[in-house]
Amino acid sequence: MKKKVLVTGASGYLGGRLCYSLLKQGHSVRAFVRPTSDLSSLPPPSNGGALDLAYGDVTDYRSLLDACSGCQVIFHAAALVEPWLPDPSRFVSVNVGGLKNVLQAYKETGTIEKIIYTSSFFALGSTDGHVADESQIHPAKSFCTEYEKSKAIADKIALEAASEGVPIVPVYPGVIYGPGKVTVGNVLARLIIERFNGRLPGYIGYGSDKFSFSHVDDVVDGHIAAMNKGRLGERYLLTGENASFMHVFDIAAIITETKKPSFGIPLLVIEAYGWLSVLFSRITGKLPLISPPTVYVLGHQWAYSCEKAKVELDYNPRSLKEGLAEVLPWLKSLGLIKY
Ligand SMILES: NC(=O)c1ccc[n+]([C@@H]2O[C@H](COP(=O)([O-])OP(=O)(O)OC[C@H]3O[C@@H](n4cnc5c(N)ncnc54)[C@H](OP(=O)(O)O)[C@@H]3O)[C@@H](O)[C@H]2O)c1
Repeated sequence: MKKKVLVTGASGYLGGRLCYSLLKQGHSVRAFVRPTSDLSSLPPPSNGGALDLAYGDVTDYRSLLDACSGCQVIFHAAALVEPWLPDPSRFVSVNVGGLKNVLQAYKETGTIEKIIYTSSFFALGSTDGHVADESQIHPAKSFCTEYEKSKAIADKIALEAASEGVPIVPVYPGVIYGPGKVTVGNVLARLIIERFNGRLPGYIGYGSDKFSFSHVDDVVDGHIAAMNKGRLGERYLLTGENASFMHVFDIAAIITETKKPSFGIPLLVIEAYGWLSVLFSRITGKLPLISPPTVYVLGHQWAYSCEKAKVELDYNPRSLKEGLAEVLPWLKSLGLIKY
């Protein structure tokens, strides 16, 4: 059945692709964007058409409530995804406060049938020595980043809301990669750009880290499947192939017929570079690509199983090889890398 949906974070990497897909499937989309948002990831809104824009901020309850008017579904994808910000309190106000406002708006609106909340693998915590599934709850003893902490707190709130009967389905993507806006959320594209422009000469660490890599279009399909058939209150990992960044660079070298890196840059060196980048960022105001918290993340494993989503949502993540075979020519076509 066609729905009227509100998408927060619509101007972002994931949100933009989600809007396109929802529109393609005949849903009517209200994109919640900030007055300052770059709207290049969205189709132009059409008069009386299937896409309309609502301006606001997830921390501004009134604007969110107004945007919910007449909607049946909320996709809540808005978040600050940076691993480091000069003012860390913003992670809580946006990532936790934003979800609280969505839950409050659900209660006040009365028309919302389902909330699909974009959480993150970070909300479950690291998985050193094992592969985790949806039963893992973040132990909340330590966090590599303030972002991780905010997503873990928000996850707890989402699960509490579910237990109180709020029709929410939290979904947990892995590291999202693939074509789309090259925002801070598109971390793999940014690292490949660094690598192919000679600014990242070696592997990051020694390949002992493992992450779960999710292609953006698989994640979008998983979100829409969660709307159509996700069970209320159930968590779904929308993860993909578990692999190290070393493996990613190796596959990239094979696909592009270029040389693999011949050495690993020790994490300590990357951390020192991260501290310098943070210092530089405090002077210039430009956010760093690598910061010490990123390195703390790289010191752990983040490997997950998406079996539940495969069974219940027909989630069908592609392999890294397939995904990268698309990403590399795409970055090349944009002139962002050469090979
Ligand atoms: N990227 C990943 O690897 C990854 C992995 C797991 C989970 N996730 C989750 O996926 C979601 C989307 O991430 P993404 O990668 O698409 O990030 P992104 O490209 O940085 O997009 C973030 C979006 O959130 C919006 N936003 C930020 N603060 C806001 C505020 N105060 N009010 C309203 N909107 C606000 C941004 O708006 P502006 O355009 O105005 O900045 C943007 O549209 C997030 O919830 C993130 O936690 C991402």
